[in-house]
Amino acid sequence: MAEVKKENDLMEKIVSLCKRRGFVFQGSEIYGGLAGTWDYGPYGTELAHNIKNIWWKTFTTDREDMYPVDAAIIMNPKAWEASGHVAGFSDPLVECTKCHHRFRADQLPVENREKKTCPDCGGKFGEEKQFNMMFKTHVGATEDESSVAYLRPETAGGMFVNFKNIIDTMHPKLPFGMAQIGKAFRNEIAPRDFIFRSREFKQMEIEYFVDPRNEAEVNEIFEAWYESQMSFLKGIGLSENKLHKIEVPDGDRAHYSKRSIDTEYDFPFGQKELLGLAYRTDFDLKNHSAFSGADLSYYDEETKERITPHCIEPTFGLERLVLAVLSDAYSEEEKDGEVRTYLKFSPKLAPVKIAVFPLLKNKPELVEKAREIYKQLKKEFGAVSFDDNGNIGKRYRRQDEIGTPWCVTVDFETIEQGTGVTVRDRDTGEQKRMSVEDLVSFVKSNL
Ligand code: GAP
Repeated sequence: MAEVKKENDLMEKIVSLCKRRGFVFQGSEIYGGLAGTWDYGPYGTELAHNIKNIWWKTFTTDREDMYPVDAAIIMNPKAWEASGHVAGFSDPLVECTKCHHRFRADQLPVENREKKTCPDCGGKFGEEKQFNMMFKTHVGATEDESSVAYLRPETAGGMFVNFKNIIDTMHPKLPFGMAQIGKAFRNEIAPRDFIFRSREFKQMEIEYFVDPRNEAEVNEIFEAWYESQMSFLKGIGLSENKLHKIEVPDGDRAHYSKRSIDTEYDFPFGQKELLGLAYRTDFDLKNHSAFSGADLSYYDEETKERITPHCIEPTFGLERLVLAVLSDAYSEEEKDGEVRTYLKFSPKLAPVKIAVFPLLKNKPELVEKAREIYKQLKKEFGAVSFDDNGNIGKRYRRQDEIGTPWCVTVDFETIEQGTGVTVRDRDTGEQKRMSVEDLVSFVKSNL
């Protein structure tokens, strides 16, 4: 069996599979779409949920030092002045004086950047401007400068503005973290590469507060967060050799960061940022305190001192994780002149864990037994599907393409001899006969 995986058209194949099998659709597709927006279909929703749930369990419920929040997307605009986003959250924009197409200057092909010429028509660019990426809206019935608000460009802001609430209600001891999963919005000049660079996306972020008086401990915690990010990525099945640690140099870091490590991944279109880790120091708490007038300090009971904690921020983009998981899992295999496509998801992430088939659709006794087993398995695992459409080969192909790890077939032996069901493994194609009880334990041990 030969593995077939041509990198150049891999992205096209993934996008096409996502649409064909109900993972991801273009946003507002029936209206011709809206650039930079995407909608998850049933399997994409499940896949993203599974990633979110593992993240949530790993970084909040399994820990003792985490305080989750779910803050409003639209915040008082002063918060974005304090965070530096109103003044500085921008990308360089150039516009062609001939065709008036607009481009992100730092993403132009080298030749166009150097010669300042338009890649579409060859015209000359006007002067480079800074384009603020925050989406603006108006709150209330008046549409003037006094009612301007922004859709949050990062979920982090919602945590910093709740720092005092957490201190006052939960009385945490340093070090501790706040965690949030939610939508973020950026009016990207050039959304591209499928869901990789979208205008609306989900972040899973942690603001981890540390005592700045102990620099060695701060560094240790920073390194530990990097390791936790890596172990999460490996835990969801990403190939270690496709992950790259990038120490972000001075000048390339976000305005709030003293040190940043990006984790890049070998996407089909190149090595690009998957997630980040930043040492935001006291930048946010100090600025929010200055702009709001609120006391955002922490009282150390032991030393009787008031300090402003520093913040270490591990940040994860959900869409980029979904895309990395899909790219890593996408597999093709040639057998007897036919190409089999399957998604080699870790069973923990698979949108459907088990598919149950009656061998023949027109034999009521087989269908009845298969439905009985299906119900039993569904009660146990939830994400179980029933399929009696087309022949067994077609059913396997459908399940392979959505990454279902196990297909269970109910045949005459199941009914007549009570010897259990056949269980077919997605990756090897091997089939084994086992009792439903053994199947339940086997699947449980693999989730
Ligand atoms: N709070 C820090 C922060 O927002 P960031 O590097 O700008 O840092 C964090 O964003 C993560 O959010 C990125 O590593 C990436 O995974 C994701 N992300 C950022 N912009 C994105 C976009 N336009 N589309 C999809 N994901 C994006």
